[in-house]
Amino acid sequence: MSAHASFSARLLAWYDRHGRRDLPWQHARTPYRVWVAEIMLQQTQVAAVVPYFQRFLRRFPDLAALAAAPADDVLQAWAGLGYYARARNLQRAAQIAVAEHGGALPAELPALLELPGIGRSTAAAVLAQAHGQRHAILDGNVKRVLARYGAVDGWPGAPAVARALWSLSESLLPQERLADYTQAIMDLGATLCTARKPQCARCPVQDGCAAHRAGRTADFPAARPRRQRPLRQAQLLLVQDAAGRLLLERRPPAGIWGGLWCLPLAQADEDAAAFLRGAYGLHAQAGEALPTIAHAFTHFDLHLRPLRLHVREPAGLAEQAPARWIDLAADALPGLPAPVARLLQQLAGKAGAAPPQGMAPATTRPRRKAVSSPST
Ligand code: ADE
Repeated sequence: MSAHASFSARLLAWYDRHGRRDLPWQHARTPYRVWVAEIMLQQTQVAAVVPYFQRFLRRFPDLAALAAAPADDVLQAWAGLGYYARARNLQRAAQIAVAEHGGALPAELPALLELPGIGRSTAAAVLAQAHGQRHAILDGNVKRVLARYGAVDGWPGAPAVARALWSLSESLLPQERLADYTQAIMDLGATLCTARKPQCARCPVQDGCAAHRAGRTADFPAARPRRQRPLRQAQLLLVQDAAGRLLLERRPPAGIWGGLWCLPLAQADEDAAAFLRGAYGLHAQAGEALPTIAHAFTHFDLHLRPLRLHVREPAGLAEQAPARWIDLAADALPGLPAPVARLLQQLAGKAGAAPPQGMAPATTRPRRKAVSSPST
């Protein structure tokens, strides 16, 4: 027996003992019943589908009944299954079948694929189960089974990986018992070859499974690759005046941290002193650079490069400037972006005696004891 023949033979033998052979759409396995079931099963598990299927079939026993029903009745019968486009497509497909295919679902793959809501795997599953036709399927469960069996690398959503899985699925098809085989491979994925903790010891095809032999079932199928997130950089300015006060600015309403108070941010490549002169009329001297802080936003990463600057002259601020000086030991801090608050806390911790949120000011005044409660 070839390796491929043994796959289907073993799977069918397993199915005869352990597979699901009493699902309502298997008795009778008519095209209409199988099709309704497969659409329901696209996004919903078998146990949840069964009662809906039975109610739906009582209400709409055949294609003609479904095609002629008020749309609201169909949606009502679907209520609770979710993904209502499936119900609308189901009825539209029924109406097309009545109008264009003599009141029956087409029994050829290309014509079936033309109907709304029916993709390649669903069409194949309907034709295999209802007509015994020899077509490969590739739904989510089967992708996992085959990615493991053939140790097919890569994310199944990638076209090249999907092509490899479709071709493996086709190569494993038996010559007979296509209806049972189709249910069997789905059952294997749903019950033994599960995403987490597959039960390889009970699997009828473990001998031929490349992932199992390599002890790598957890590596297949590969997860969707994470998109490379763009990296933005900025300078985070720790500007202190002669009294040790720190400059905060309010972020513009649009953009990162919109509307929050923050240490001034300058472009990564600009002269920070020139920026402060231009924005606030301040004459500052650049000092120490501190280690870069990485912060992740939903759609990009931000690297903040903290830079200390000192302002010697009495610091005034332009009237219109959305900025203020704060004394970290004395003033309540406004809400700050988390990485900025953390930085100030760290600096305060190093300096020793500052309130929890504050930064110890480099001041000539006697340092005040931190008397405030930790919540201030
Ligand atoms: N998922 C899609 N079709 C299925 C079926 N016929 N049995 C079990 N799970 C399925």
